[in-house]
Amino acid sequence: MKQVQDYIRTIVDFPHEGIMFRDVTTLFADPRGFRMAIDQMLHPYAGIDIDKVVGLEARGFILGGAIAHQLSVGFVPIRKKGKLPGRTISQDYKLEYGEAIVEIHDDAIKPGEKVLVVDDLLATGGTAEAGIKLIERLGGEIVSTAFIIDLPELGGRKRLEAMGMEVNALCAFDGH
Ligand code: PRP
Ligand code: MG
Repeated sequence: MKQVQDYIRTIVDFPHEGIMFRDVTTLFADPRGFRMAIDQMLHPYAGIDIDKVVGLEARGFILGGAIAHQLSVGFVPIRKKGKLPGRTISQDYKLEYGEAIVEIHDDAIKPGEKVLVVDDLLATGGTAEAGIKLIERLGGEIVSTAFIIDLPELGGRKRLEAMGMEVNALCAFDGH
């Protein structure tokens, strides 16, 4: 039977030479693939208390929305700078080249709320770490982090685990 990783397309040399881009749009577009991914991402959380799902822009929105719906909890977006209309707090983080800033509405998480963080892919962990910091600054308690893909060579899992985070991923790929 086809597994989640079999629905993920690899695009060579995107966005630049030497990068093997793991493209989850082919997984999302397939009715069996998408359902399988959401079901498997939810699996570790049966019976676990979760108040909010936070999705990281942009592909984390697609997964986080479906997961929040399935858990019957609210969904909160963490967005790139300048996109959220209300009062926000910001966190900067390092990219492969340069820096970026992500934001969350300052009233989106209440102190003590139990949060599940969702994104499509864990590489260096910089994006997830910035998201985690925002949630913790609002007093949220992170229950776990959930991804489709882990790229272990880039160290994100170790980085998040060193922060005391639980990391769940459906599959891993070698290299970038
Ligand atoms: C990709 C991916 C993760 C992040 C992982 O997003 O969707 O969010 O990189 O990398 P990291 O672990 O090294 O931080 P990208 O920044 O390309 O933006 P997008 O999701 O908005 O396309
Ligand atoms: Mg992303």
